[in-house]
Amino acid sequence: MKVSASFLSSENAPKDLKLLDLTDVDYIHLDIMDGKFVSNKTMPFSQMKNIYKYTSKRLDVHLMVDDPKKYIPLYAELNTEYITFHVEVDQDILKCLQMIKDYSIKTGLAIKPTTKISTLIPYLPYVDLILIMSVEPGQGGQSFIEESKNRIEEVRVLLEEYNIPAIISVDGGINDNTKSKCLQADMLVAGSYIINGENFQEKISSLR
Ligand code: DX5
Ligand code: ZN
Repeated sequence: MKVSASFLSSENAPKDLKLLDLTDVDYIHLDIMDGKFVSNKTMPFSQMKNIYKYTSKRLDVHLMVDDPKKYIPLYAELNTEYITFHVEVDQDILKCLQMIKDYSIKTGLAIKPTTKISTLIPYLPYVDLILIMSVEPGQGGQSFIEESKNRIEEVRVLLEEYNIPAIISVDGGINDNTKSKCLQADMLVAGSYIINGENFQEKISSLR
């Protein structure tokens, strides 16, 4: 299982990013919120871009924003492997996915806990990652929604049915207990479980 670490709940991001850099974590998950798609707002890009000073890990960018087109060119500048935005946005989704591809970055589509899984179908041939939200997006430290287990399995069946090589990532409330609900996933995003621990490597290893 791949692990992507979110530092959204960190009180000292530079320090925690440096510690994460010493672990074998696969990615740093960058949560970007615009105060519109979700009510919280994260720091502006002018500050976020300094992340390269603290980590050499590849970035897994999660855009919780109304207009991905405004953010894709910015986050494409960083050491980015995936840019993921939400299937719920009122935008031309194929255009946004193509924009990400034009930067030679892998594409991701995220889906909120109450959105029908079938909404993803038209976009499956163009995505490298499906991010299943197992909490309502907007903040760290929430509890895993049990129904997510079925949703992960539903997406796995869809990918097989349409013969799509995209990976499944799960985000929200992940810990060494809830990981057993995510056996059909390829990647787990964990924030507070890792960051609130004493030994980041131990927490990461426990999710693999
Ligand atoms: C929630 C974010 C998550 C969050 C995960 O909206 O997308 O990435 O930081 O944090 P935990 O693991 O604490 O639920
Ligand atoms: Zn996230």
